[in-house]
Amino acid sequence: MSERVIPLVDQRHAGFATPPAAFLPDQLVRPNGLLADTLGRPLSDLRISVTDRCNFRCSYCMPKEIFDKDYPYLPHSALLSFEEITRVAKVFIAHGVKKIRLTGGEPLLRKNLELLIEQLAALRTVEGQPLDITLTTNGSLLARKAKALKAAGLQRVTVSLDGLDDAVFRSMNDVDFPVEDVLKGIEAARDAGLGPIKVNMVVKRGTNEHEILPMARYFQGTGIVLRFIEYMDVGATNGWRMDEVLPSAEVVKLIHAELPLVQLDPSAPGETAERWGYAGANGQHDPALGEVGVISSVTQAFCSDCNRARLSTEGKLYLCLFAEKGYDLRSLIRDVPAGQDSDTLLASAIGHIWQGRGDRYSELRASMAPDTGTGGRRVEMSYIGG
Ligand code: GTP
Ligand code: 5AD
Ligand code: SF4
Ligand code: SF4
Repeated sequence: MSERVIPLVDQRHAGFATPPAAFLPDQLVRPNGLLADTLGRPLSDLRISVTDRCNFRCSYCMPKEIFDKDYPYLPHSALLSFEEITRVAKVFIAHGVKKIRLTGGEPLLRKNLELLIEQLAALRTVEGQPLDITLTTNGSLLARKAKALKAAGLQRVTVSLDGLDDAVFRSMNDVDFPVEDVLKGIEAARDAGLGPIKVNMVVKRGTNEHEILPMARYFQGTGIVLRFIEYMDVGATNGWRMDEVLPSAEVVKLIHAELPLVQLDPSAPGETAERWGYAGANGQHDPALGEVGVISSVTQAFCSDCNRARLSTEGKLYLCLFAEKGYDLRSLIRDVPAGQDSDTLLASAIGHIWQGRGDRYSELRASMAPDTGTGGRRVEMSYIGG
């Protein structure tokens, strides 16, 4: 029987300041779409977690022993409402955000998510363009919801899938969920036009590495981009060990031996994945065969152009996936001092916080002793989203 580990500190309650927030600058920061942090990195990608709950218990993310029936999930009153999320999103967009990703937990568990998507889809970037709105899902509810999501204005989805073998998949999601249903969800997303679809596979050495090639073969030539993610030391509960990380270089080597690959140029600045295209008979990339990606947060950090901000379910701003503290933006919506304008405060706070950002955890990880971080306890990925 595994020992139940009770977290000593609930990191969700750690944060910078309470209202009226001490992280507000002395002088207002007005958004001009050109924000940069201390390393010159723009703010162009916002990830919004809409629930801290999930119907799966992937051991690398929400291990069953911790996330059991007694786990203190956020109460409904703590969650940002759709109107609040849209208001905050608008301010982020004024600061330069062009892409919004809805995450969780499992975002499709949030009731009426389509209504939020409708509100976000009506917003425009500083340049007057529609936003790139996407969603990361485990796919379990996608077959039912794909059409409505598309109709609401969602452009595309990324589906997590750790293997094709039913036994392997059931054991990785740890709730005995059949792989067939996720595959049907992916089909439904494709039929609904939620593309280009990406499929994310977290690779754990000794657990699902033998699924790499079957997955590559299954998705080759389908237009779906399969990406392999190195198992990361996010959160504080997954018992991460370096020897369970299969470096991306080995994933590429393994696939290349069977299905020849050629490296492709990045398609966007700050991209998480390195792209590899399938080669045709002439040794060049054959677009009809498609491509795969590798996300190498452990062996090849990509912090230098990280343009991603994360908004937790209860409205805290996190500057890094590995952050220990978040900035309470909700208080700037709900507890605004009389005579002050909430949007102006939010814009100033977000601008000021981003201008002071220097986070680059993955780059620093190599020089840290295992699991020391900065002495605190990292938030869970199910709380701030992937
Ligand atoms: P698109 O290419 O626009 O679809 O988005 P993306 O590449 O950012 O992909 P996605 O959000 O699906 O991220 C894929 C995975 O990469 C996540 O599930 C995380 O495991 C990892 N990841 C994403 N962003 C970061 C990041 O900022 N830092 C680290 N270390 N890992 C990240
Ligand atoms: N390592 C790598 N990726 C992870 N995810 C969650 N936990 C981890 C981890 N420890 C990512 C997976 C999943 C998404 C929701 O979060 O990509 O698809
Ligand atoms: Fe749920 Fe995704 Fe975490 Fe798995 S990785 S437990 S599907 S949020
Ligand atoms: Fe960005 Fe932090 Fe990930 Fe580096 S570790 S890429 S700074 S989220």
